[in-house]
Amino acid sequence: MRILTRDLGAHEGKEITLKGWVDTRRDHGKLIFIDFRDWTGLAQVVFMPKNKELHEKASKLRSEWVIELKGTVQRRPAGLENPKMASGSYEIMATGLEIYSEANTPPLEVTSDGLTIGEEVRMKYRYLDLRRPRIQKNLRTRAKVFQLIRSFLSGKDFVEIETPLLSKSTPEGSRDFLVPSRVHPGMFYALPQSPQQYKQLLMVGGMDRYFQMAKCLRDEDSRGDRQPEFTQLDMEMSFVKREDVMAVNEELLIKLVKEMYPEKKIQEIPFPHITYKEAMEKYGSDRPDIRKDKNDPNLLAFCWVIDFPFFEKTDEGTWTFTHNPFSAPKPEFMDDLLAQRNIENILTTQYDIVLNGIEVGGGSIRNHRSEGLKSVFRVMGYEDARIERNFGHMLEAFDFGAPPHGGIAWGMDRFMMLMEGEPNIREVIAFPKTGDGTDLMMNGPSEIPVEQLREQHIQVIKTKN
Ligand code: AMO
Repeated sequence: MRILTRDLGAHEGKEITLKGWVDTRRDHGKLIFIDFRDWTGLAQVVFMPKNKELHEKASKLRSEWVIELKGTVQRRPAGLENPKMASGSYEIMATGLEIYSEANTPPLEVTSDGLTIGEEVRMKYRYLDLRRPRIQKNLRTRAKVFQLIRSFLSGKDFVEIETPLLSKSTPEGSRDFLVPSRVHPGMFYALPQSPQQYKQLLMVGGMDRYFQMAKCLRDEDSRGDRQPEFTQLDMEMSFVKREDVMAVNEELLIKLVKEMYPEKKIQEIPFPHITYKEAMEKYGSDRPDIRKDKNDPNLLAFCWVIDFPFFEKTDEGTWTFTHNPFSAPKPEFMDDLLAQRNIENILTTQYDIVLNGIEVGGGSIRNHRSEGLKSVFRVMGYEDARIERNFGHMLEAFDFGAPPHGGIAWGMDRFMMLMEGEPNIREVIAFPKTGDGTDLMMNGPSEIPVEQLREQHIQVIKTKN
């Protein structure tokens, strides 16, 4: 039966089978040494010359070949242990070898942290890049973090619900990715920028508490902390006030740090609340980095930023929302919103969670009455017909008995980047896009054959740039 290199110690003196990759091969005169690798680490394997056939087979092995090894686990002689390897007190005297796959020389090495290798080659050969222990660790820890979140929220009566990817354009503030409809010529679905409207409709549907690890798609330029396709921990709760949503999230964040990253220290609990005004005056930013020691990689300075202005002026001099058009104003400003007066002073219930100067999440209490939501769009200068066309389904839903509700979404890629001390969210995503939104491994986006375009009722107009 296959065992993993991490379990060698439990098999001292026994014959075992390992399956995985050749990390490196070293010939020391007559002895051949293999650093064997599986997902749990490395192990040293020795091929003695006395088994001639086996020795000859081993002499062909190269890095990244995939093999099955049989051998006896032995304690290394005193002084020859390798403290850098988890299995460094042991070595395996090989008794058998099967070659599953040979490998071409990899175009990039996969044993280092890879941070100095160019993005192009890393992304083109991402499946090799994934073999890197650093990326393995990031993705495996990410899975554990997701699991902890799922079990925490399920324990608090949140229901995990999937919402559609083929959806309708929403005004989240970015450009939509569009999908043509074959059945409805000239019509398009939009991929969701977030499940915002669906999660609110789930509250109208009486689901009470929802969460989802949601794929969100926004046609915006990539940056270190931004991808066109990213993952949110999205949640929504009925019958809550701002403080209730913040409390559940704070409890979850503290638990995550304590259980997954015990070496890290949260600077201040409960997390400080900073108003937008104070953040701008004191830190010149609405995502203040309040760390007392910026050199400490294990310091986590969480804070909540609250009391944002609801509206801001566009370049054209009209009003637009600063965060989320579905938010409710703070209760003391509801009359102003309904009367559309005092616009510049209306504060929203929006709360952002900021970690070490990066916005990792944001949410709000929503307008659960149609009049409130309608007023937001009226402030923005939308005619009633346009409001009806774009948001008629939300307004109608709110008129069938909508509970007061609110929620939040965390950027999971950003959160994992910060927790893993990575410089870029690409390091915590299995198959990220490059800076210009391409998938170098799959070669997407790509041209589509004319027949396929015709079926989708699409004609491509090529413009010169
Ligand atoms: P918002 O647009 O603020 O809110 O998104 C929530 C969080 O998602 C992360 N994020 C991103 N991460 C990677 N790449 C991107 N392009 C990207 N864009 C955003 C950020 C951000 O804080 N529906 C609302 C949430 C709500 O009100 O409940 C929403 O999507 O960490």
